[in-house]
Amino acid sequence: MSKMIQRYSERERMNHWVIAILFFMAGLSGLAFFHPSMFWLTNFFGGGPWTRILHPFLGVLMFLSFAGLMLKVWHHNKITEADKKWLTAVSEVVSGHEETLQNVGRYNGGQKVLFWIMVACMFVLLVSGIMFWQPWFADAFPIGLRRLAVLLHALSAAVLIIGVIVHVYAAIWVKGTIRAMTRGSVSEAWARKHHPAWHREMTRNG
Ligand code: HEM
Repeated sequence: MSKMIQRYSERERMNHWVIAILFFMAGLSGLAFFHPSMFWLTNFFGGGPWTRILHPFLGVLMFLSFAGLMLKVWHHNKITEADKKWLTAVSEVVSGHEETLQNVGRYNGGQKVLFWIMVACMFVLLVSGIMFWQPWFADAFPIGLRRLAVLLHALSAAVLIIGVIVHVYAAIWVKGTIRAMTRGSVSEAWARKHHPAWHREMTRNG
């Protein structure tokens, strides 16, 4: 069996799963108000009024927990020349021929682009949500701006939901990735195959 390399600490994993739980709770409570056909989702949160009260707080908690992980990993997500190469060769990666991409570090180009999409959506969701949060902040903003905020809120939520679906799909599709976030470690073979530059870095230091 191949040796294991530590990828996430306990604290980082806890942080990540808190984000995931809050994402589902904020997402489902928000979808409940997106269209009448989804109003039944309010049953999970104690009915309409409670869902309306809880949704913004769940959203703020999701933002804060995301900010915690973001501050830990953002510097690993700086886009480099190797990432641009990965992005242009994505079809080779999908067909299982990533051996030409030997400079992929801790995260690949796709993961990094998705990370920055998540960051942008989280910020837009927070700022736009505060702008029409009744009865606390909404009165401070003119109606035109509030309407724009509602639109941006729905748009960034949709992009984030699609982004998370891609994120989860990729985590399952690339065998051996899920354990990075459940046990904290990955096999050396996984690292060598998918993140060769990170593997070199980790094994050089023993
Ligand atoms: C059931 C849902 C989820 C699963 C199965 C999942 C799985 C994973 C896995 C396996 C990793 C490690 C990837 C690696 O190290 O290469 C990861 C990283 C990460 N996840 Fe999730 N995740 C889920 C939900 C979420 C949600 C809802 C968010 C945020 C909205 C999120 C944000 C992140 C971030 C920021 C990273 C670090 C990757 C980076 O910095 O580029 N995850 N996730």
